[in-house]
Amino acid sequence: MAETTIDLRGLPAAEAYAELLGQTEAVLEGVDDDIAAMATISALIHNSFGHLWTGFYRVVEPESLLRVGPYQGTLGCMEIRFGRGVCGTAAAERRTVIVEDVNEFPGHIACDARSRSEIVVPVFDDKRNLIAVLDIDSEEVSAFNEADRDGLERVVAWFAKER
Ligand code: SME
Repeated sequence: MAETTIDLRGLPAAEAYAELLGQTEAVLEGVDDDIAAMATISALIHNSFGHLWTGFYRVVEPESLLRVGPYQGTLGCMEIRFGRGVCGTAAAERRTVIVEDVNEFPGHIACDARSRSEIVVPVFDDKRNLIAVLDIDSEEVSAFNEADRDGLERVVAWFAKER
């Protein structure tokens, strides 16, 4: 098991996410517990990239309600309705949402006033049920792009693997 988190800041995105994916798979080898995996993935991503907030909102009422799950960062809001904010939009539309400037996103939910940009990635199980969203916030405007979408979608594909 990896004993330290590697600092992936400054690496080209493809390389950084390849590292992250390798580390995720190594640390989660033999794990069959979604909450443990969410906690581990949050810690890995958060500390590797130095984001403002990294964590999961879990689907607790299908098509209706998200509730905060394992995360790293300042206090997150407890519940988010499908369709509300960036997380609720990604959940309702079952797609990754990248917000370059949260001030330009109508209905953005500000849990931490320092948040300036955000990416939210849907998390599916092996039957394509939506089980959660992965939310990452940054203090920088336009911190996330297609390379992040691609890398993070690969990481959360862990939850869709047969275990
Ligand atoms: N900004 C998110 C809410 C969650 S937190 O920032 C931790 C949103 O608009 O969905």
